[in-house]
Amino acid sequence: MELSEEEKKEAHDMMELWEDNVLARYPEQSKKQKEDFRNYDNPTRDTVREFYKQNHQYQTYGFVLEKEKEFLALDRKKMTLWEAVEYLNTLVDDSDPGIDLDQTQHLLQTSEAIRADGHPDWFILTGFLHDLGKVLCLFGEPQWAVVGDTFPVGCKFSDKIVYPEFFKSNPDTQDERFNTLLGVYEEHCGLNNVHMSWGHDEYIYHIMKDHLPEEGLYMLRYHSFYAQHREKSYDHLMSKHDHEMFEWVQKFNVYDLYTKAPERPDVEKLRPYYEDLASKYLPDVLRF
Ligand SMILES: [Fe+2]
Ligand SMILES: [Fe+2]
Repeated sequence: MELSEEEKKEAHDMMELWEDNVLARYPEQSKKQKEDFRNYDNPTRDTVREFYKQNHQYQTYGFVLEKEKEFLALDRKKMTLWEAVEYLNTLVDDSDPGIDLDQTQHLLQTSEAIRADGHPDWFILTGFLHDLGKVLCLFGEPQWAVVGDTFPVGCKFSDKIVYPEFFKSNPDTQDERFNTLLGVYEEHCGLNNVHMSWGHDEYIYHIMKDHLPEEGLYMLRYHSFYAQHREKSYDHLMSKHDHEMFEWVQKFNVYDLYTKAPERPDVEKLRPYYEDLASKYLPDVLRF
């Protein structure tokens, strides 16, 4: 299924809005931005609210298991890394070329900042890959099942998740299998045993699972799990090992959130470096 230009633009805009919203919730230094965000009556906030309303209503335990079955066989499309990057980049918004960065530029700004700080090459590559799972959008998935904060399903939703009030329309809230603190899980069972709400994090994790060091895999899989890496509200599910690995998730989050800059990285100049890195760690063709 091909998305129309209009749908691609909508998807792109929603991704931008979500990222701006996360940044407003977790501003780099000043609390002022956060205050402004709370008090400012703007139309984009309504779009974000509407987005989370759907996300929180439809991301049930059953929905997640269904999507895992549907997508994790990875039999949809085969692409080289660069084909995937270009495919994702068809989600551009050309309405405002002065400010908007496309997806490739976000990936490169993230990974180049990691590189500039002298981190290991797998960390740089992880930065470059982290949002490639958003191609789900191009497979016709609704935006609430691609982007947005992620959270465990199958147990009580934390009130530290953004817009927690919307979970009241999620049927799992009424289901006694799923609405206790632990739900279907055991205390400290480890996140590997926990199903997360479905989106681009879980998807890219599975695509890269056999190819990157574990620290990088945690970054991919949990980078939108703000309720834990920022709010620490799921310690009851985390193992000791998860806690150690989340130090890397936190390290990564800084690059994801705070590297947006108006200067555009020179994509063609950087391409050979990233293709080299990819050939060190990844197979020539990736399965989506
Ligand atoms: Fe992301
Ligand atoms: Fe990102």
